[in-house]
Amino acid sequence: MDFEQHDDIDRAVELYHATKVYGSKHTSVVAVNDVSLHVELGEIIVIMGPSGSGKTTLIQLIGALLTPTSGDVIINGRNLNGLSKKELSRIRREEIGFVFQSPNLLSALTAIQNVEVVLNLAGVKGANARYRAEQLLKQMGLGERVNHRPSQLSGGEQQRVAIARALANNPQIILADEPTANLDSKTGHEVIRLLRNIAKEQGKTIIIATHDLRIRDLADRVLWLEDGKISVRWSDGFIIDPVCLMLVNRSSEIVTTYEGKTFHFCTRKCKERFEENPAAYANRGFWEDLNENMH
Ligand SMILES: Nc1ncnc2c1ncn2[C@@H]1O[C@H](COP(=O)(O)OP(=O)(O)OP(=O)(O)O)[C@@H](O)[C@H]1O
Ligand SMILES: [Mg+2]
Repeated sequence: MDFEQHDDIDRAVELYHATKVYGSKHTSVVAVNDVSLHVELGEIIVIMGPSGSGKTTLIQLIGALLTPTSGDVIINGRNLNGLSKKELSRIRREEIGFVFQSPNLLSALTAIQNVEVVLNLAGVKGANARYRAEQLLKQMGLGERVNHRPSQLSGGEQQRVAIARALANNPQIILADEPTANLDSKTGHEVIRLLRNIAKEQGKTIIIATHDLRIRDLADRVLWLEDGKISVRWSDGFIIDPVCLMLVNRSSEIVTTYEGKTFHFCTRKCKERFEENPAAYANRGFWEDLNENMH
C-alpha cells in the first residue's frame, strides 16, 4: 500500500490502484491510471484537469456506472468488485446522487414532480414524497417555483431542481460531472455554493469534476488529473498560466514580468501570446484571486 492508513477516519470513497482501460490492444486508452484516493465523510472534492484527462471516467468508476479494469473501488465501506448488478444498481439509487452537465429533467413534469418521481422509485409515495420534494426545493431556493415546468425555469433553476432530485433519497455521496458547464459563472458558483451548504449541514461527501476554476474555493481539496493520474494537489507550489489557465509549476523558467508582477507559463507559446497583449491576460480579475489564494 503506497499511502497511509487512517483507520479512525470514516471514509465515503476509497480507491486502491483503480485503472480503467477502454478498448483493447491497438485501440486501447488508459483513461484512469492506477489512482489511489480516500475521500472522507463530509468532504468536498473538486477534480480538475484538461479535457480527456479522465475526470468523467473517474466519476463513473466511483458511481458504479463503470467497472474498473483493475483495482478496487470501495463505497461506504463496501468493495464494488464482486457485487451483483442488482446490488450495484441499489447502491447507485440509494447511496449516490448524480448531477450531470445537463439537468435532464422530464419536460412534461413540474419541478416538484421531477423530484417526486425519484422518491416514488425508492418506495416513498403520496403525501410523504410530495412533502420531502417540496422541502428539498425550498432548500434550493425554489419554494416559489415548485409548480413550474422545466421550460419555465432558468438554466440555474433547472440545475437546482436536478440537485434536489440528486438529494431526494438522502444519499451519502453526491457525484457531479461538469454541473456548471451550461451556466454562466456567477450562477454556476451560486448553485455549487447551495449544494455545498446543504452538504456541510448534512455531512455529505461531494465530488465534482469541473473546468470551472472558480469552484475551487468551495472545495476542501482540489485534485488535478492529468493523463488519468492525480498529478499534484492544487496547493503544492503550482500556479495558473494566465493564458491557457493550466497549472504550471511555480519554478517554471518560462516567465515574464508585467507591472512589477511575475507571470509563469506552461509553454513559450503562452508567453508570446501574453506579451502580445499583457493587459488582456494580466487583468483577468479572477486569475489574480485564484493565484493569491493558492498559498
Ligand atoms: N467509451 C469510451 N471508449 C473509448 N475511449 C473513451 C471512452 N470514454 C472516454 N474515452 C477516452 O478516455 C479518456 C478520458 O476520457 P474522459 O471522458 O474521462 O475525460 P474528461 O477528463 O472527462 O474530459 P472532458 O473534460 O473533455 O470531459 C479520453 O482519452 C477519452 O477519449
Ligand atoms: Mg468529462
